[in-house]
Amino acid sequence: MAHRHEFTKPILPGKGATDYERYLHTDELLALQKTPQELLHKDEMTFLVVHQSSELLMKGAEFELGRALEALERGDYGNCTRLIRRAISLLEPTIGLLHILETISPCDYHLIRAGLGHGSGLDSPGFLSLLHIGPRLGQAFHEQLGRAGVTIGELYRRHEEFFGLHDVAERLLDFDERMQLFRFHHLKLAERVIGGRVVGTMGTPVEVLQQRMESWLYKDLWDVRNQITAATNETTAGEKY
Ligand code: HEM
Repeated sequence: MAHRHEFTKPILPGKGATDYERYLHTDELLALQKTPQELLHKDEMTFLVVHQSSELLMKGAEFELGRALEALERGDYGNCTRLIRRAISLLEPTIGLLHILETISPCDYHLIRAGLGHGSGLDSPGFLSLLHIGPRLGQAFHEQLGRAGVTIGELYRRHEEFFGLHDVAERLLDFDERMQLFRFHHLKLAERVIGGRVVGTMGTPVEVLQQRMESWLYKDLWDVRNQITAATNETTAGEKY
């Protein structure tokens, strides 16, 4: 019994009562929200938890994309795609989390909003870091295309021959698609909670969120589909007439 007792004592440095709490810094983490007395509305706890969780998940996703970038730069396509897939798995829950906030009634939200100051998702460190790493991955991908001596069109036509690099292209597209899905679901959330024809806490009209949905990280990877379809249509038209 004495031996069993030893395992319940923390051995890691720190203030927490257990090693679980010390390792994860749960005391600090769980003190990062307002106390129940400080909340402007009871729904504010969910608002805070959803935002903070999203920031953590985006931080995790950006970290894995950084590793994917390193793998891509050294031509290690297998690890690059493995890490992009993981980053996407971290990003996906942030879309689901947005739906939780759709349960906040518009009138109640305005009580919470009164305490946001000029705080805006435009300054989200997590989302901004993803917007920053995205183009760097695109640049590294183009460098690899150059090294392989193929254009994007050729990569897609000869995808079996260039399996690894084609897989990278498809995973980059997955990432781009998740960013767009986040923006789409976030726009619907904003429209439901504050409306689509109003101005946000930083003075940005909600319509701007609609325009930002039109921005692609890897436009050429979307465009290549059009080129393939156009080329196929031309060939089939030639066969018909
Ligand atoms: C009730 C919930 C929410 C509302 C009403 C809302 C509303 C808005 C509005 C109006 C904007 C435009 C900029 C501004 O003036 O503030 C914006 C931007 C943004 N918000 Fe939210 N938001 C909500 C929740 C969230 C959550 C949970 C996240 C997760 C991190 C988030 C992330 C963002 C991002 C990243 C932008 C910039 C979008 C872009 O670059 O396309 N928002 N939000």
